[in-house]
Amino acid sequence: MTENRPLKGKVALVAGASSGIGASIARALAGAGASVALVARRERELAVVEREVAEHEVPVLALAADLAAEGVPEEVVAAAERALGPVDILVNNAALARTGPIHDTHPRHWRQAFRLNLDVPFLLIRAVLPGMRERGHGWIVDISSEGSLLQADWSAPYSITKRALNALTAQVDIENRHLGVRAVAVLPGWVRTDLAQDPEELGVGVDQLLDPADVAEVVLWAVTLPARVSVGPLIPVRPVSRNAQTALNWEHYLRAVRHYDTVGGHMLDVTGMSE
Ligand SMILES: NC(=O)c1ccc[n+]([C@@H]2O[C@H](COP(=O)([O-])OP(=O)(O)OC[C@H]3O[C@@H](n4cnc5c(N)ncnc54)[C@H](OP(=O)(O)O)[C@@H]3O)[C@@H](O)[C@H]2O)c1
Repeated sequence: MTENRPLKGKVALVAGASSGIGASIARALAGAGASVALVARRERELAVVEREVAEHEVPVLALAADLAAEGVPEEVVAAAERALGPVDILVNNAALARTGPIHDTHPRHWRQAFRLNLDVPFLLIRAVLPGMRERGHGWIVDISSEGSLLQADWSAPYSITKRALNALTAQVDIENRHLGVRAVAVLPGWVRTDLAQDPEELGVGVDQLLDPADVAEVVLWAVTLPARVSVGPLIPVRPVSRNAQTALNWEHYLRAVRHYDTVGGHMLDVTGMSE
């Protein structure tokens, strides 16, 4: 049984678990036997994922919360640990994908991106690390983006926050892996989710797209590695197709941004998130 359930007895907290990659990771970790705390704002979507996770017969806790709000990252860690026990695996997946040219980036949008994409992972990591260090095991998994490796125009503040997230991951890993606490940043290419525009509409073929389950598979692989093994800390994940080139995909994505900008006539929020 433990062979099929390598994470039995472990507790995972997935930040941004109501859809897309985060939901897929939550299901994969539960399938491997982990208890899972799910965090996101949309209660209805979260309840669906909660039911799917519970089908794996593991303890599950759904916490509807805005992680960007003051004090919330610390509160969700405390609530998860009260209900499920100390967090062994933290998945930082919640993010917003605001992009645009620097000269047209409002300071408020800049701050929102830094808050959710960088401050929140830092605060969650900070809340779980002391316990992990004391117990001598733990995983920090930060969901970054392959786009973080490119210098492309119109890609800020998303690409800048993800690049900083890569650096945060590497820092956590180097400071803690000798204690058994490892960190990886997973850098997916274009994944078919709510956040990712409508790729087909932009002429992006299916061979250039990942499925959320592909990313979840990589996360599961990393967190079930033997205790003596360190990987990464940056792990790009891309389709095998020759067409799936990061720069090309970014061009498609940013073309979509420009399109929306022209249509809307104002600074774009590609995620459709409100102000
Ligand atoms: N899709 C891609 O092509 C792609 C490529 C590379 C990297 N990524 C990265 O993958 C991660 C997941 O994105 P996705 O594509 O799966 O998009 P998604 O389906 O929109 O997932 C984003 C998740 O973050 C949650 N979230 C957003 N703001 C939040 C907040 N303030 N508080 C709590 N939760 C919040 C969302 O839930 P609520 O809305 O319910 O709060 C949702 O569960 C992101 O870090 C993204 O940068 C995506």
